[in-house]
Amino acid sequence: MKVVVIQGPNLNMLGHREQNIYGPMKLEDIHNQMKSFAEQNGVEIEFFQSNLEGEIVDKLQECLGEANGVILNAAAYTHTSIAIRDAIAAIQIPVVEVHLSNIYQREEFRHKSLIAPVCAGQITGFGPFSYHMAMIAITQIMSEMKARYEAEQAQQAQQALQSK
Ligand code: DQA
Repeated sequence: MKVVVIQGPNLNMLGHREQNIYGPMKLEDIHNQMKSFAEQNGVEIEFFQSNLEGEIVDKLQECLGEANGVILNAAAYTHTSIAIRDAIAAIQIPVVEVHLSNIYQREEFRHKSLIAPVCAGQITGFGPFSYHMAMIAITQIMSEMKARYEAEQAQQAQQALQSK
């Protein structure tokens, strides 16, 4: 099982940018914590950060056939990007939307997430712990999908045996 973590614009500045909102932790430290969780749970993990909308769309498309789940903090593009929303809808891989801050407690323009309707769920407002919760959520979703797939395979094998 593989999960791809996609980080949007300005998240490379964590630890420096608006510490009163995002806290002191660097992106690298958050990723190290996620890596430990992934290792403990036998999940392969890849990290990607970009400040460019098109690169995020490209990365989502690349996940097709490569990843079983995605964790996405689209940052400011959350509130503006129809292209990222369409890419999520196109790949049909479960995507967990993440935010460090509680977007509903902030400026009104942040209250609307264009990507939420096509994501499996949204975690917002728990600081770096939001990513840990997202790891738990995506691992659970991927396990359920795997179990469903294996049950279908077993059923098909059973049917094939019976029809002989
Ligand atoms: C953010 C919230 C967005 O509104 C903002 O543009 C970000 C970070 C968060 O993680 O809290 O860059 O996605």
